[in-house]
Amino acid sequence: MKVIQIFDTTLRDGEQSPGVNLSTEEKIEIAMQLERLGVNIIEAGFAAASPGDFHSVQEIARRLKDVSVCSLARAVTSDIDQAWEALKEASEPRLHVFIATSPIHREYKLRMTKEQILEQVDQMVRYGKKRFPIVQFSAEDAARTEIDFLCEVVDQAIRAGADVVNIPDTVGYLTPNEYADIFIQLQERVPNIDQVILSAHCHDDLGMAVANSLAAIQAGVRQVEGTINGIGERAGNAAIEEIVMAIKTREAYFNKRTTINHKEIARTSRLVSKLTGMFVPRNKAIVGDNAFAHESGIHQDGMLKHKETYEIMTPETVGLDESQLILGKHSGRHAFKKKLEDLGYPQSDEQVNILFARFKELADRKKQITDEDLIALVEERVGEG
Ligand code: KIV
Ligand code: ZN
Repeated sequence: MKVIQIFDTTLRDGEQSPGVNLSTEEKIEIAMQLERLGVNIIEAGFAAASPGDFHSVQEIARRLKDVSVCSLARAVTSDIDQAWEALKEASEPRLHVFIATSPIHREYKLRMTKEQILEQVDQMVRYGKKRFPIVQFSAEDAARTEIDFLCEVVDQAIRAGADVVNIPDTVGYLTPNEYADIFIQLQERVPNIDQVILSAHCHDDLGMAVANSLAAIQAGVRQVEGTINGIGERAGNAAIEEIVMAIKTREAYFNKRTTINHKEIARTSRLVSKLTGMFVPRNKAIVGDNAFAHESGIHQDGMLKHKETYEIMTPETVGLDESQLILGKHSGRHAFKKKLEDLGYPQSDEQVNILFARFKELADRKKQITDEDLIALVEERVGEG
């Protein structure tokens, strides 16, 4: 089964989330956890962006030896030189050099012609290859680039020696079919495309980043990029934990695997949330507090009979404690009885019926029923008896 490379950019694109600013120590702590998680490449920052970013990339490159460490660089020699200075002690240094290719970026941001962009791609990839063993080239805003020109750009990058070619949906614009189609076209039209690893990099502006990444895998990419908890510019990047759990849970469908140590997912998510200050919504897939919690009576009854009735993966797989049956106004007698037993208050069916009626009254008034509420309910009743 083929392995999909996981390229983590929590420390670069993720840190570009408005309001997030990680210190070098915090970045090192996250990078070490990412290494434990088993990602294949860590984009540690953008070395030329600031002295602080340079220092963080350098420290991470010095300390982490079981993962490839990478820096972003614009397609200019000074950025590539800075990236090399920061990464030269890494065990597997990777340059990530990018230039925008879409009409809107060419005209308004870069003020460059197509020919100038092709020339820059050629020269900067060649320049990077003089030092770096691995050069990844990204066509920023590839998703909104004319497909004919994108084919030319990718062809140029390959001729210049790129090892990995990344096709970002920089503004999260495409649907899964459209994004997959770009990779299909590139594979059909660009000579020697098999020499490079194709990579997907998706943003979540329309909520399709993970779906688009998975569509790209189906279309033949061998690397996907994303961030922990999906943090990043605007609506964020594709959430790595969601991509890898989709690949694992639907292994027969994708026929692919990753090197991720799934049991480290919850720990990594909590660490990133704590250090970035970006809270994980309760209903977030895989790592949200409610991801393995069940409230309604029908679901709880099903869960007590067989967990697979309402869970497609176990919380233990991602390093969480067992699933939770949350008692609320939608809960049923079965879960209520079980909860009392777990709390050390087993009750006869007759007693359960009486207590359950009172519990429902309480649940109508109170959003969350705590263990203390339940104990009080039982003890009151026992006191009456
Ligand atoms: O979204 C994007 O286009 C990027 C590139 C710099 C790779 O993050
Ligand atoms: Zn991005």
